[in-house]
Amino acid sequence: MELRISDKISKIAPSITLSIDAKLKQMLADGIKVYGFGVGEPDFETPKYIRDAAVEAIDKGMTKYTPAQGTMELRKAICAKMKRDHGLEYNPNQIIASSGAKHSLSNSFAAILNPGDEVIVPVPYWVSYTEIIKLNDGVPVLVPTKKENGFKMTKEELMSAVTSKTKAILLNTPNNPTGSIYTESELKDIADVAVSNNIYVVSDEIYEQLTYDGKKHISIAALGEDIKELSIVINGMSKAYAMTGWRLGYACANEKIIKAMSSVQSHAVSHPSSITQYASVVALNGPQDDVHKMVEQFAKRRTYMFDRLSKIEGLKCLMPDGAFYIYVDITNYINKELCGQKINSSLDFAQILLEQGHVAVIPGAAFGTDNFIRFSYATSMEIIEKGIDAFEDFVKKNLK
Ligand SMILES: Cc1ncc(COP(=O)(O)O)c(C=O)c1O
Repeated sequence: MELRISDKISKIAPSITLSIDAKLKQMLADGIKVYGFGVGEPDFETPKYIRDAAVEAIDKGMTKYTPAQGTMELRKAICAKMKRDHGLEYNPNQIIASSGAKHSLSNSFAAILNPGDEVIVPVPYWVSYTEIIKLNDGVPVLVPTKKENGFKMTKEELMSAVTSKTKAILLNTPNNPTGSIYTESELKDIADVAVSNNIYVVSDEIYEQLTYDGKKHISIAALGEDIKELSIVINGMSKAYAMTGWRLGYACANEKIIKAMSSVQSHAVSHPSSITQYASVVALNGPQDDVHKMVEQFAKRRTYMFDRLSKIEGLKCLMPDGAFYIYVDITNYINKELCGQKINSSLDFAQILLEQGHVAVIPGAAFGTDNFIRFSYATSMEIIEKGIDAFEDFVKKNLK
């Protein structure tokens, strides 16, 4: 019997990051010592006051269905956060809570895209963007950016990609995988193009809190009423509060868009977990000291990892201003041999490195730039020290 699945789904590529993580976990389960720099997940525990709030939610019986858009308390806490951090005024009807930022992105594209609508995605891009767009009948339009511009899309690059079918621009700052942060003037350039062409900006700001060396994240929606009207700001609890498994993301946008997103969500998952929502209110309204402490740790790891990787012959690293990744140019390794096998691509390199060197990184091919690899420093200093030792040793001995 032939089992047929939808044509649309068969064109979707599974997440390379999750498959590398699965392989790494299997190797660990088999008793193999592997250093993981793959998945972007903080190694910290969720702060205690947030965990306590979840227990309280269960004990208090906050275990029933909530409104599809999220509880009023949570949406108010998100409004207060947007005002506090960006001076942005939203009311609770302009907010929706979802099961992770990934889910918020998915709801956003479901709400705005018609079949064939184009979404401009600067390269390198986070793995899931293109697939989420395709899942929602859109067409990702990839716009290559330049390393000398910190991989940030310029006004000219953006304008050359705009067509009559362009519905949205996908912006991600601070950026995964490069760690780059758009400055206010760079954001103004993007906003000008969006406003003059009536194009939405889906602004993924999940790494907002993770910035270093005094660099600050600016939300494009804060640059004026016109661009705020066209912006769908995406954020969530995963990265800043070490709450990846809790699944809470949110979107802030015009009420009409939020209503459409809420309608999609109500038929798919109803709403995110009531317990997670309760704990997220406490996280957002509470003292932010734990977030600051985690950022301090990330900053130390970033400097250490950057210094170590920069000293390895043949590698060229990009100093990240935010997020928790270092994007490393391995152009000098392509066409060489690693353990006797020719390296044709970042995938080859990452695969041999994992299987034979026992170090997990993400190949740049996952982000649309094949001559790079991404290291995550969302892991302990001990693993970073030993893992970079192992990486350096392996490359020195086996790269010919
Ligand atoms: C750029 C970016 N956006 C969104 C997400 C998804 O976050 P969440 O756990 O809230 O779904 C990630 C996670 O890796 C990410 O890197």
